[in-house]
Amino acid sequence: MPAIVLIGAQWGDEGKGKATDLLGGEFGWVVRYQGGNNAGHTVVTPDGRDFALKLIPSGILSPGVKNVIGNGVVVNPEALIEEKAGLERRGVDTSGLLISADSHLIMPYHVAIDRVTERYLGKAKIGTTGRGIGPAYQDKVARVGVRAADLLDEKILHQKVEAALELKNQILVKVYNRRALDFHEVVDTVLEQSKEFAEKIVDTRLMLNEALERGETLLLEGSQGTLLDVDHGTYPFVTSSNPTAGGASVGSGIGPNKITRVIGILKAYTTRVGSGPFPTELLDEMGEWLRKTGGEVGVNTGRARRCGWFDAVIGRYAVRVNGITDVFLTKLDVLSGLESVPICVGYEVDGHRVDEMPMTQTGFHHAVPVYEEMPGWFEDLSGARTWDDLPATAQAYVQRIEELTGAPVSAIGVGPGREQTITR
Ligand code: IMP
Repeated sequence: MPAIVLIGAQWGDEGKGKATDLLGGEFGWVVRYQGGNNAGHTVVTPDGRDFALKLIPSGILSPGVKNVIGNGVVVNPEALIEEKAGLERRGVDTSGLLISADSHLIMPYHVAIDRVTERYLGKAKIGTTGRGIGPAYQDKVARVGVRAADLLDEKILHQKVEAALELKNQILVKVYNRRALDFHEVVDTVLEQSKEFAEKIVDTRLMLNEALERGETLLLEGSQGTLLDVDHGTYPFVTSSNPTAGGASVGSGIGPNKITRVIGILKAYTTRVGSGPFPTELLDEMGEWLRKTGGEVGVNTGRARRCGWFDAVIGRYAVRVNGITDVFLTKLDVLSGLESVPICVGYEVDGHRVDEMPMTQTGFHHAVPVYEEMPGWFEDLSGARTWDDLPATAQAYVQRIEELTGAPVSAIGVGPGREQTITR
């Protein structure tokens, strides 16, 4: 099994960190292929230690694994150094970390523009993480980005930053009435920072392909989630990259035919951070209960997550657009104690019943969930280790999700610990 993709099948925060960590040990390589330090992966190691990873692949916690920040990722040098140092302070060996020479850098002007743009948008804001992700990807596509390899060539770096900053400063000063950034300060700072990781900047595309040729296995770790994909998500309330499985090939430089399995991570209910439509969102005390019971607070930003029932329409959609072969269902334990558990099986859009994602943004904004009630369970699931340990009603809930989404559930999470997983 040469390359496996692990992808969030909702709006992110499905518990991918745990899945990567569980699988990471089986792989020689764990690769991040998009996003940046907007991600937040919580991993609890076997010795009970809690890690919140942002930019560095979750495989860093599995000794001996090589961890690649792929070409599709946007890298904030300051955030990288901080995260790397934080891991080292806790005794994690980061020597297996590699950074693609083609990954783009998040510069201070990207962060500044992200924040002022959001403020400027007012009510129409995306609710970004404010980490400069969108502006860095904008520059990549506009062909004025700065790449990791540029850090190794001071002359080129000067030229690129100078060209980019000229326009950025005009925007910051003339459009947003902000202070201009000093070119020398920007370049000197990033060069100083790069000393901490320059030797890790390599041709990861070549290395990954050579690893595949040697028969080694790769785990391609998606960040955010399917519905936050810039092409397939709830545009414009999305991130600026392609978390979906197709992005794994582009963002790492391996052929799509090398990917033989796509694991979709689905949470047993739904959450979303930031703005945008969310049909099954619960704005009442039930939503508050899910947030509290599920500990639904952003790892990275500390923002409270919006919570709602499981939405099988988006689940089915995610299975299709990613080619999901099997599902890791997380946080099933959170739903214990409910008389019945609603599952959204379709929508009513402007008086019409629809079973698939509405084609237009307005259609999705108008989607009212159609629920099916599943009998609930009161048992604490956190100690369940096998399928047979689950109450029959919890089993039926999982089976209904399989039927509705069209993908088999191969693993079930019943708590944050590595051992709190049922494999089928
Ligand atoms: P950006 O990625 O910071 O540009 O934010 C765009 C949207 O993606 C916002 O709604 C964010 O809340 C959301 N987002 C970004 N990263 C994550 C994540 O790791 N989990 C969940 N939502 C995210």
